[in-house]
Amino acid sequence: MRTLVLLLSFFAATATAGENRIFLKERPGKNQVVAQCAVCHSLDYITQHATFLDRAGWEKTVGKMINSMGAPINDADKRIIIDYLAQNYGH
Ligand code: HEC
Repeated sequence: MRTLVLLLSFFAATATAGENRIFLKERPGKNQVVAQCAVCHSLDYITQHATFLDRAGWEKTVGKMINSMGAPINDADKRIIIDYLAQNYGH
């Protein structure tokens, strides 16, 4: 019982951590996305756009972040990020 209460309060604390909570799917590439994409705006942008972006859409969006917004993302990370987004948040 004690363990259950501890667990519940842990989840409650996690759920109310606000902007800093990491809710993206635990898959390879997540670390790169969190590190590179949360610099300028909330990661909500990703989940909000997941409903209508496919792989080509994510390629375009990530390219726009780099070329227009000035995100300092190298080619290796860019590929990892696009794969992650297309697989987990594309359709
Ligand atoms: C250098 C700052 C910066 C970084 C880093 C950055 N973005 Fe953005 N992003 C922006 C700005 C500025 C906007 C437009 C904000 C607005 O309209 O409120 C934006 C908007 C977006 C949007 C909304 C759709 C659109 O096209 O405007 C998505 C989706 C998005 N970013 C995803 C990402 C992803 C994925 C990454 C990581 C690869 C990323 N961003 C990294 C600056 C950045």
